[in-house]
Amino acid sequence: MNDRTSAPDEPVTGDALTQPFAGASPYDTYVHASVLNSLQHPLTEAPDEMGFLVTTQVMELWFTLIVHEWRTARVAFAKDDLPAAMDALERSRRALKALGGSWAPIAALTPARFNGFRAAFGQASGFQSAMYRHMEFLLGDKSAGLLRAHRGDPAVYEALAETYREPSLYDEVLAYLHRQGLPVPQHVRERDVTTPYTGDLGVVAAWRHVYAGPSCHPHLALGELLTDIAELVTRWRFEHVLVVRRAMGARAGSAGSAGLVWLEERAARRVFPDLWEVRGDV
Ligand code: HEM
Repeated sequence: MNDRTSAPDEPVTGDALTQPFAGASPYDTYVHASVLNSLQHPLTEAPDEMGFLVTTQVMELWFTLIVHEWRTARVAFAKDDLPAAMDALERSRRALKALGGSWAPIAALTPARFNGFRAAFGQASGFQSAMYRHMEFLLGDKSAGLLRAHRGDPAVYEALAETYREPSLYDEVLAYLHRQGLPVPQHVRERDVTTPYTGDLGVVAAWRHVYAGPSCHPHLALGELLTDIAELVTRWRFEHVLVVRRAMGARAGSAGSAGLVWLEERAARRVFPDLWEVRGDV
């Protein structure tokens, strides 16, 4: 029995568990909870603003975890280490589920309640989230224009520019599949990875080897895990559209977009388009 162990019904006075720490607790030193919990600064007295702020911050943390896992998977694919890549993708799948569940506190804002604090945050918008852009670039959805928007903040810009220049997670998946013997076309393997990947019929044909056939292909689980990820990203985008429609209808966005119409178009973009195309093709 270690000296910090005690039964739940013991009195706390004099208990080893309640002995004060010298300085910050090991928990706070590791988790930085006091830093995290000092970062909420609502700009109004509106009762819903705190929930809006915390929900946004929580989502930023999930973005960070998802980006971390996709980078881990990308490195593993480059080393032909499929088990490590699948592990990281599976962890990202769970994080994406948690991200989707994070809408709950703000999912039913009325326009009046949203207006209670909307003017206070001015032009701030999730559109300016650099970590969300890292996610999109890792999925293969590169955009020079959306990168340029961060130029005014050199450290943020440089980090995002690196993700922009590097092969995406999907580029590394295709390179890996090619080394495994799947016929990924040369023009795809040698393409300019700073351009958005919008799908390729030759790659769809390569995935057909995985999805068709009398017995399950060894890479079917990979295709399905990527499809789960694509679906969860898409679900997050459509849930965002619903939250926006409920909170502000068709009004223009705070960053200056047309709002709902703009978001609906963005949400309709396919994640890993080949994997959706192949389903109608086997
Ligand atoms: C009441 C809640 C929300 C409303 C009304 C709202 C509204 C909008 C609107 C209108 C846009 C389009 C850009 C603009 O003109 O501003 C946008 C973009 C965006 N929002 Fe939200 N948003 C809400 C909550 C959130 C939360 C909690 C997050 C989490 C970080 C988020 C992340 C994003 C992202 C990443 C984009 C860019 C999407 C893209 O580039 O395709 N939003 N939002």
